[in-house]
Amino acid sequence: NITNIHAREILDSRGNPTLEVELTTADGQIGLGSVPSGASTGEAEAWELRDGDKQRYDGKGVLSVVDNVNTIIAEAVRGLDAADQRGLDRALIELDGTDNKSKLGENAILGVSLAALHASAQSAGLPLYRYLGGTNGFTLPVTCMNVLNGGAHADSNVDIQEFMLAPIGFDTYHEALCANVETYHTLKSILKDRGLGTGLGDEGGFAPNLKSNAEAMDLLVEAIDKAGYRPGEQIALCFDAAASEFYDKEKGVYRFDGDERTGAEMADYYESLLAKYPLISMEDPFEENAWGDFAALTAKIGDKMQIVGDDIFVTNPKRLQRAIEEKTANSLLVKLNQIGTVSETLDAMNLAYRNGFTTMVSHRSGETPDATIADLTVGMNAMQLKSGAPARGERIAKYNQLLRIEERLGDDAQYAGAKAFPRIAA
Ligand code: PGA
Ligand code: ZN
Repeated sequence: NITNIHAREILDSRGNPTLEVELTTADGQIGLGSVPSGASTGEAEAWELRDGDKQRYDGKGVLSVVDNVNTIIAEAVRGLDAADQRGLDRALIELDGTDNKSKLGENAILGVSLAALHASAQSAGLPLYRYLGGTNGFTLPVTCMNVLNGGAHADSNVDIQEFMLAPIGFDTYHEALCANVETYHTLKSILKDRGLGTGLGDEGGFAPNLKSNAEAMDLLVEAIDKAGYRPGEQIALCFDAAASEFYDKEKGVYRFDGDERTGAEMADYYESLLAKYPLISMEDPFEENAWGDFAALTAKIGDKMQIVGDDIFVTNPKRLQRAIEEKTANSLLVKLNQIGTVSETLDAMNLAYRNGFTTMVSHRSGETPDATIADLTVGMNAMQLKSGAPARGERIAKYNQLLRIEERLGDDAQYAGAKAFPRIAA
């Protein structure tokens, strides 16, 4: 049972305050929960509460959230069974009482939910992936590494937010990781040779100014090839357009490649990329309210392409249910802090699985070294994880945790490889 809860303000990878929660159980376990934070957030995400006191951290402090945990939440959940994750999460949701967790804050609720998860796994004497997945959690994911950052994560002129390497053609996770990292280093030397910037964006990818968004994909293909791998067959490409960020709401157009484009023009552009690049996944190709444009693109190319919904679904089972009915996409991006509890996140993932949607578990652009999402990915056999470039400790922490899990699983470990992308495996 929960005997104590204590929250504190810590820093995330952008140097912004975030929440860390310590939850103590009667058997002496202390579970730690730490909360990430996005930059290109969806409007329908659960509410990240901040102090708004401009005198401290430019208003981004979370002392009021710390207070919510240490008083209101601590009083309400003391004595509850930490291992009854669903019961605890329900109690937190009811205590908050709003649709988007805005009263106590998503960060308060998720911090407690995650801390309980960790304490319970420790009480059971199990590593987190095994606590979550039992005998069934043994698949190491394809890690989609964001090696070139644009959009809201960089100061460059590139509109698309993330260009990722997906190492699908390998037998083991550690070999796939090595190939991706070698390609990342090769990309750096190519950029250097051309006099392009090699400074890093928020997720550890390079952030050069380029002539066009497509040039980023040319550079990635060149890097894969030069690193000694076969583009498409061994390492394929994914991108996250995060299109809400370059959508002009007033005019109803996308500001892309220095031009104004309609949704239909963007769809034609995306389709034209298929012939030119070894692309297997596109995330948020349209702004977060463009349900119709998403569905039209999915109808057109969704049989050979993974189309991922992030800002539009916000890991919310209700929005995902609509997406299933309207065939809005064929893949769910999974971010714990978009919905705010562990059990609602698992519900969204299970709903996706039952309806033929693939799932990609995701970090946020503001992260801590906490590696929970690596265990979540293996425990739930999610088969895809994105955690940025192989640079910056908070990104590496997840990739290293997968190395540990792979080693512990030993002969039982299976690498997802191309199976993670059923639409392209055919
Ligand atoms: P965010 O970006 O964490 O800044 O929202 C990640 C994403 O859009 O997938
Ligand atoms: Zn996204």
